[in-house]
Amino acid sequence: MAMHTAYYIFPDQVHLGFGAAHLVGQILKAEGGQHAFVIADPGVASAGLVAPILASLAEAGIAHTPYIQVIPNPDCASVDAAADAYRTSEADCIVGIGGGSALDTAKAARIIVAGPQEGRVAEYAYRLGDKARPHPPQSRLPFYVAIPTTAGTGAEVTPWAVITDPDERLKFGVGGPHSVPNMALIDPELMLTLPAFLTAATGMDALTHCIEAYVSTNENPALDPMILQAIAQIGRSLPIAVAQPANRAARRDMAEAAMIGGIAISSKWLGACHALAHPLSSFANVQHGLANAIMLPHVMRYNLPDAIERYARVNDALGGPAGTTHARAESAALMVEQLRHGIGLPARLRDVGVSESLIAPMARAAYELDLNWWTNPRAVNVQVMAQLYREAF
Ligand SMILES: [Fe+2]
Repeated sequence: MAMHTAYYIFPDQVHLGFGAAHLVGQILKAEGGQHAFVIADPGVASAGLVAPILASLAEAGIAHTPYIQVIPNPDCASVDAAADAYRTSEADCIVGIGGGSALDTAKAARIIVAGPQEGRVAEYAYRLGDKARPHPPQSRLPFYVAIPTTAGTGAEVTPWAVITDPDERLKFGVGGPHSVPNMALIDPELMLTLPAFLTAATGMDALTHCIEAYVSTNENPALDPMILQAIAQIGRSLPIAVAQPANRAARRDMAEAAMIGGIAISSKWLGACHALAHPLSSFANVQHGLANAIMLPHVMRYNLPDAIERYARVNDALGGPAGTTHARAESAALMVEQLRHGIGLPARLRDVGVSESLIAPMARAAYELDLNWWTNPRAVNVQVMAQLYREAF
């Protein structure tokens, strides 16, 4: 029964480019939408990014209920509350605006509202490959337009949402092939005012998606060239986007690279770096992209023996030095560190509020509760996880 097929999940529709967000009204109108539930986080709303979306909806004659209550690292209660508010609103479609937290809140709430009234988000969680409640049929899911305001998560094109369970200090995934947003409106205009730190951290999340997917044990060769292209784009454009926030070419490059990262992980999944990053958020509140930025070079050095050819090409994409395959592969982690340093992010866990006593429980969480290391190119165990945290400490 060991038939090997390459399994791909591609996005649904995407508009990418300056002005894309303004299409939201006419798109929902064409889909027969009459009332949009608009999920956004308060920071994005106060930055003025939600008002033009509401104006586009109004212009198309679509009623809207704004729900500006997304929290960072959305937890079960916040997702269940968003689903309840959607039901009360009697909306028939969803717009999510923001970074990964907003897009994931919307993505997860969309699943709940398509299921039975009493369904709660935790019941749809992947836990060791099992779910307490089945994913609702695709035909019941409201049309979902995802509008990212960061170039990072790629959540606008991925099938899963990442939700935090505060009781178990655990991040879990919900979703499946049918939960890819129906429409991604990727508009770099919305990213021109993103502050330097968030530009840097979310950009490193996108880079981590590309690099972890590129070396993952899931083989999806049709994606390889586009992933290398995205790595090169991030290496070239992330420092410019951080230093010159209004640089339109750099912002567009990053928006596209983050989308490619999302496409890459949808099929190829992630690796040990994301397994290590999630506990850093749930135990110590480290921003997700920053957690990846700190852990990634350590994971790359650990993985090196099992990903030499691929890391050599990552080095080349990042503009690293020529040399033997082995030397170029070794240089890839250094190139990531130089990029991280150049955009002003810290290098050590002790610099971002992590205490050493957390290493043991975080290592257990990374190995026992997180599924992302499944596709890491080199096998890991709980001792390896602890060692990688200690190296990064
Ligand atoms: Fe990520």
